[in-house]
Order: sequence, then structure tokens, then C-alpha cells
Amino acid sequence: MHKKLKVLVLMGGKSPEHEISLISGREVVANLSPSKYEILPLVISKKGDKWLLTSKEIILKLTNVLDLKGTSKEISLSTYEVVSSLGDKIKESDVVFIAMHGVFGEDGTIQGMLETVGLKYTGSGVLASALGVDKLVFRKLMQRVNVPIPKYVALSKGEKITNLRTRLGDYPYFVKPHNQGSSVGTSLVRKQKDLKSSLERAFKYSNTVLIDEFVQGKEVTCGILGNNMPFALPLVEIHPLIGKYFDYDSKYKESGAEELVPANITKKLTQKVKDLAIKVYNEIGCRGFARVDFILKNNETPVVLEINTIPGLTPTSLLPKAARAAGIKYTKLLDKIINYATE
Ligand SMILES: Nc1ncnc2c1ncn2[C@@H]1O[C@H](COP(=O)(O)OP(=O)(O)O)[C@@H](O)[C@H]1O
Ligand SMILES: [Mg+2]
Repeated sequence: MHKKLKVLVLMGGKSPEHEISLISGREVVANLSPSKYEILPLVISKKGDKWLLTSKEIILKLTNVLDLKGTSKEISLSTYEVVSSLGDKIKESDVVFIAMHGVFGEDGTIQGMLETVGLKYTGSGVLASALGVDKLVFRKLMQRVNVPIPKYVALSKGEKITNLRTRLGDYPYFVKPHNQGSSVGTSLVRKQKDLKSSLERAFKYSNTVLIDEFVQGKEVTCGILGNNMPFALPLVEIHPLIGKYFDYDSKYKESGAEELVPANITKKLTQKVKDLAIKVYNEIGCRGFARVDFILKNNETPVVLEINTIPGLTPTSLLPKAARAAGIKYTKLLDKIINYATE
């Protein structure tokens, strides 16, 4: 005999479709094969604050659910066992500081979880987080609002590459997974014979990979703070000392890169980069803080690489460094980030 698969059926929740969801949930619970599955129905209350584990029997007794719609009366959940999605201590907090990066932290998933239980959290919301983490969707959006990005070709696993040279110009190219950070899975490709191994490396991390033109020029990054009236921090100019570009080791190893604040570029170009960064921030719909990465093509034309909705936040990370140059000490920066979350 196989062990039964435990299926948690989530239903209800903080939505005008709360009742509809209970009906769907009830049907799912009623129709999942009891010989194959151990069913754990979990009703999220209409306020989103209670996570209630109940039994199949109770769920099947739910009738006339729609009659309750529009009345303030919530379906009696008194016989349910209150569980917590996040642990009671966490649910008692007033704000959650999300100090996480990449998938399941920066991509909207944890944000969504916190929304459903009604907890305030730092940084961007679900959509902006999701848009920021997906470099391909991000680029499609940027193209529509005329934000300069590198020429690129997106490739799915197994897909044939055609006309790379016509679409990107000549080598070198830059290859990266569409949804990673910290330069994970990236590589600079100088010759055609190296393309295959670069693609393989990137495909280890995601099913979609971007092949970019390699943009030559100074790299700068722009931290932004604020909600409705975001402002740009001084630009940081990055000179990788270990890698040929700002790769993992250059980012995280001791003396991996030299970072100049403010960037040593003209006032005019600085302003152009800041304006673009704010535009990107607003288009994506960010909140609290973010950092936009750029390369200045031929040291004169800003090209946007990506937005980080939860950039590195150690005291020596790029955004805190930029904040300090603007007179905002690390502790004060953290206060600000929390204030943006609660205001
Ligand atoms: N098209 C490109 N041309 C040149 N360098 C690039 C290009 N794309 C990325 N890079 C380099 O790789 C680094 C990481 O790329 P980025 O798009 O910012 O992804 P990540 O999320 O990993 O930081 C950049 O900081 C830059 O040094
Ligand atoms: Mg980056």
C-alpha cells in the first residue's frame, strides 16, 4: 500500500469571491479520491487573519454558502481548528521586514502570503515583485514605455536559435537565466563555440534564458527610496576587480569590486540615469525601495539591465552605500524602509 498523499485544500480567503471559493473548495474536497489522498481542508477567513484547518465532514456540510454573501455574517468556523500559516509569533508582528532575495522572497510569493494574512511588509507588493524578478517580462514592459534595454533574444529550453547575428550583432554576447539574481548562471560569451556551454549553464537555473548583446561601458546602479514620491540616491559606479563583469565573486568576495559614490560621470548623465531609474520604479509600481542596474553604453547612453525590488541590504551593499552618501545612515535607512511599509 502506498502512503496517501496529503493534500491541503486552501479555500476562502480575503476576497469578494470568498464564498465562491468555499464552493469550489467543497467540491474539490468532496471529489478527491479518499483512497489516494489524505485531505486537509484549510479555510482562510474572510478577513484573512485566521487559517482554519477543518475536516472533510464539516466542509461537506457547507450548504447555501452563497446566501451569506453580502451579509456580514461569516460562515461559522467555530468548529475549526485555528492554525497559523506563519506561526503565531509572526502573525502578532506589526510589520514584516522581508530580508530575502530572489525566488520565494523577492518574487511576490512571500508578499502574497503576507497579503492574505493582512500583515504589512517592507518593499514592493506582489505584482511589482513578480515583474521585477522576471527579466523577460520586465523587458517587454520596458520596451513598451521606451526605456532603453539591451538587444536580446529569449530562448526556451529545447528551442532552436536562429539569426543571432542579425538580431544581436556580432559577439560578444551575454547569457543569463530570466529569473535569477547575484549573477547566478550568467556568462560572457566571446565566441560562437562557447555559446552552447553558456546556455547549458543558464538553463540549469531556469527554463528561459536571455542572450543579450554585450553592452560595453561603465556600470552604474541607482538606489531609489519612497512610495508615491520616490527619489533617487547618488549613483554608484562599479568596477569589478575579479571578473570581467560584475559576476558573483566580484559582488561578494572581499575587494571583489571597487565602488565609487557618487559615480564619476557628468551631472547631465547622472540626471538622465536617475530620471530613467525613477521611471522604471514607477512603471513597475514599486514601493519603499529598489535599485536599478545600468550600463552606460560607450560611457554615454544609459541602458537598463534590471530592477532589484529587494537589493542587497547589508551595511556595505550598494543601496545602503548610496544612502550613506546622501546622509542617510544604515539605521536610519532601515527606519525609512519600515516607515514606507506602514505609512
Ligand atoms: N547585456 C549585458 N552586457 C554587459 N554586461 C551585462 C549584461 N547583462 C548583465 N551584465 C553584467 O552581469 C551582471 C549581472 O546582470 P544583471 O542583469 O544585473 O543580473 P543579476 O540579477 O544577476 O544582477 C551585471 O551587473 C553586469 O555586470
Ligand atoms: Mg544586477
